[in-house]
Amino acid sequence: MQETRVVLRNMGKIDPVKVEDYVAQGGYEGLKKAIALSADEIINLVKESGLRGRGGAGFSTGSKWQFVKNTPADQKYVVCNADEGEPGTSKDLTLMKNDPNTLFEGMAIAGVTVGATYGYIYLRAEYPYLFPVLEQALANARAKGYLGKNIMGSKFDFDIEVRSGAGAYVCGEETALIESIEGKRGEPRFKPPYPGVEGLWGKPTLVNNVETLSNLPEILVKGAAWFKTMGTATCAGTKIFSLCGNVANPCVVEYPFGVNLKQLVEEVGGGAANGRKVKAVQTGGASGCILRADQIDFAMDIENCLKNGASLGSGAICVIDDSKSIVETVHNLLSFFVHESCGKCTPCREGNMRLYELCGRFLDGTAKEEDLDTMLDLADTMMLASLCGLGQTSPTAVVTSIANFRNEYLDCIANAERRNS
Ligand SMILES: Cc1cc2nc3c(=O)[nH]c(=O)nc-3n(C[C@H](O)[C@H](O)[C@H](O)COP(=O)(O)O)c2cc1C
Ligand code: SF4
Repeated sequence: MQETRVVLRNMGKIDPVKVEDYVAQGGYEGLKKAIALSADEIINLVKESGLRGRGGAGFSTGSKWQFVKNTPADQKYVVCNADEGEPGTSKDLTLMKNDPNTLFEGMAIAGVTVGATYGYIYLRAEYPYLFPVLEQALANARAKGYLGKNIMGSKFDFDIEVRSGAGAYVCGEETALIESIEGKRGEPRFKPPYPGVEGLWGKPTLVNNVETLSNLPEILVKGAAWFKTMGTATCAGTKIFSLCGNVANPCVVEYPFGVNLKQLVEEVGGGAANGRKVKAVQTGGASGCILRADQIDFAMDIENCLKNGASLGSGAICVIDDSKSIVETVHNLLSFFVHESCGKCTPCREGNMRLYELCGRFLDGTAKEEDLDTMLDLADTMMLASLCGLGQTSPTAVVTSIANFRNEYLDCIANAERRNS
């Protein structure tokens, strides 16, 4: 299956830190075009392209930009969310490692549009080796006038700084991320106010994912109509998928939205590793849905994933082979959320721990069938009452595994009864 590389178009073709290499591939032409347009013209173009956020929620990028642009302030910021804490996801790493200038250009286009003169890349703590690469690439772009004062000889100033977190999953949530940049403990804020109104140091702040921002240079150069030739009616463009878990060929690939999940797993990923069978696939990361192998034959876009009981999320596709226990997998996922819950709100802080304990009962042979109802009840409360997306989505694996693999939970009870009789 042939990939369609838009954001990964320069991968393997350039020296990532050499801005000259990037420019030789047509780099910074999008920024040049943006400088010549009005902010409203750029926003209309981005809206017309149909670009939606690639960080998980799929919000309209043009609408978000308009919101920040329309908020008056003496200082605004662009924050690139490069936290990429979702287990199994390494798309932003691949992008930044191979072509950081595409991201810088996207951020500068965003800055020129919303009226921000400064940007931050919030880099995942577990990518420390990328820090010097990004710093070197930034210095080279600055030296050639693509960043800094009067970028490309224009009236606009825009510069970028890299900041790193301390390794907390919750700091990928945009307001916790902002708290972290401000030097505070990484806990989500109450919303509203949204970052577009009151973000970093109280100023209007545009927060976008690495992949989202990296789409902008090509959209500016090639136009909205070109962008819409790829993808589906509701999701234009391409998406980067990370195939991981027990897959034969773990990889990061870019395909237009609408690519079939089964084909991704079988043709691109080569099915399960070591000659095993695919038992299940978890889409969208640790907070995503666990599907049976017979449920994955559908086109991947945000709406169609939901229709098929899946979630697109970060684009992680985690294969679980037939040697693995679904209950153990879910228990393991819950231990992750117990560890990563920031503890600010009760439904998530207590709920994840109770789900972990309840799930553990199936593994230690003390569970009763009614425990499944208690788990679903608790999951419902967490999804409704948690403050941020972590607690709202962490029970997804529980809910979908009970729906799709109830037999495995019941087998745990039956096996314990057999052992005890
Ligand atoms: C617990 C949690 C973790 C998140 N982690 C990330 C992340 O690692 N990267 C990211 O871009 N968005 C992440 N998000 C989503 C961000 O809050 C935000 O919606 C996103 O950065 C917006 O960018 P976009 O509009 O370009 O998608 C996370 C959200 C939650 C609730
Ligand atoms: S949902 Fe969880 S991570 Fe989010 S604020 Fe509440 S305790 Fe913290």
